Amino acid sequence: MKVAVIGTGYVGLTTAVSLAMNGHQVIGVDLDEAKIVKLRQGISPIYEPGVEGALNQVLNSGALSFTTKLAEAQDADVFFVCVGTPEAADGTADLRYVYSAVAAIEGMQQAAPKRRIVVIKSTVPVGTGDQVAELLSGCPELTVASNPEFLREGSALADALAPSRIVIGAGDPGTSEVVEELYKAVDAPRVVTTRANAELIKYASNAFLATRISFMNELSRLSAALGTDIVTIANGMGLDSRIGPEFLRAGVGYGGSCFPKDTIALLQLAAQNGISLGILEQVRTVNATQPVWFLEQLQPFVPDCRGKRIAVLGLAFKPDTDDIREAPSLAILQALEEKGAAVYAYDPIAADAVRQKFPNVSYTKTAEEAVQGAHAALLITEWKQCVELPWEQLYESMAQPVLLDGRNAWPAQIVKQAGFHYVGVGKS
Ligand SMILES: NC(=O)c1ccc[n+]([C@@H]2O[C@H](COP(=O)([O-])OP(=O)(O)OC[C@H]3O[C@@H](n4cnc5c(N)ncnc54)[C@H](O)[C@@H]3O)[C@@H](O)[C@H]2O)c1
Repeated sequence: MKVAVIGTGYVGLTTAVSLAMNGHQVIGVDLDEAKIVKLRQGISPIYEPGVEGALNQVLNSGALSFTTKLAEAQDADVFFVCVGTPEAADGTADLRYVYSAVAAIEGMQQAAPKRRIVVIKSTVPVGTGDQVAELLSGCPELTVASNPEFLREGSALADALAPSRIVIGAGDPGTSEVVEELYKAVDAPRVVTTRANAELIKYASNAFLATRISFMNELSRLSAALGTDIVTIANGMGLDSRIGPEFLRAGVGYGGSCFPKDTIALLQLAAQNGISLGILEQVRTVNATQPVWFLEQLQPFVPDCRGKRIAVLGLAFKPDTDDIREAPSLAILQALEEKGAAVYAYDPIAADAVRQKFPNVSYTKTAEEAVQGAHAALLITEWKQCVELPWEQLYESMAQPVLLDGRNAWPAQIVKQAGFHYVGVGKS
């Protein structure tokens, strides 16, 4: 099938590459010229494992091309809308990019009418697909589907090629059948439903995952007070098939481009409908306070941070991505700067992006360099490069051997044996 993908960010690029790998003829469209220039050269503008290799493969085979001009995509039968839906000032989802993409498709349809389908993959509030369909009601050959995306950054391509499920919301069977046909090569359960149901499945999934994380983070505070071990507790809980092991890891809080904005957007949507989602309110409160609680663990070892060297290891919101949107590291850096600490930070990929926001932090080329001379080292993102470290050498190099493990990823027994003061999340 001929497919256009509008927006070539984390979701759009992955969607375009995976559809091309599955035998479709794909054109990626983005307003950002610099991005398109890179993509045409086979350079991925994002750090995402496997994407660049696959991109070059489908570029070379001719299955994927890129443009800044939507008109060049007019042969396409299906138009995926994968543009950003960031948080607006009032917490609702800002839909301006979605509507501008839809308007561009409408213009093309009016100029050269033919059977086309608009598939909204961006995460949008319930009712958006129906509103778009209403807007396009003057173009009877143009129909609208919702097909939310569930990929995880860090394994985006693998997730797109083997998704947990494919959710398709459409107003008529003909439209959903075409979207199903697009995924013919993909072995995954299908949920074919209304656009509104599809839209709420996406928000509910993210809100539920965020809830699991905040539940464990809040529990970790009790666990620390009781002297129990939240990792063992999570293992014991996760073995219950009704609970399952995923998303039970306590840490410094969730971040990224989705959970923070999608939870607030869902709360706003509920409020607009006169419904209060109290659990979700608390999920956000726990997440906002978790970095603060974590930093309090530093107090016994570094009562006054002024002038003290503190190492922060890991800045991306999770390993294997360069994405720093809403990363917990940003709250940690902010708080340490306010306390007057001399912050040395390391991240294998995301340091340049963070440097723009925190120019006074010293960025190092290795984790070892950040930790050297530090009064404490904090693990914020569990990159391999921040977890597998030469502990004896680090012990010698630090001003004070204090480790605060914000991801419970350092080998607690080994570092304690090496002489460190070790504090994890939710452990005695
Ligand atoms: N990033 C994720 O992990 C993830 C996962 C699932 C769903 N989503 C959702 O997918 C959507 C996209 O997220 P993302 O992280 O890929 O965003 P992104 O910011 O990485 O990419 C958006 C892209 O859209 C382009 N764009 C904006 N308006 C355009 C237009 N009119 N025409 C062409 N290009 C346009 C931008 O230049 C940018 O390259 C969001 O709604 C997000 O919530 C994201």
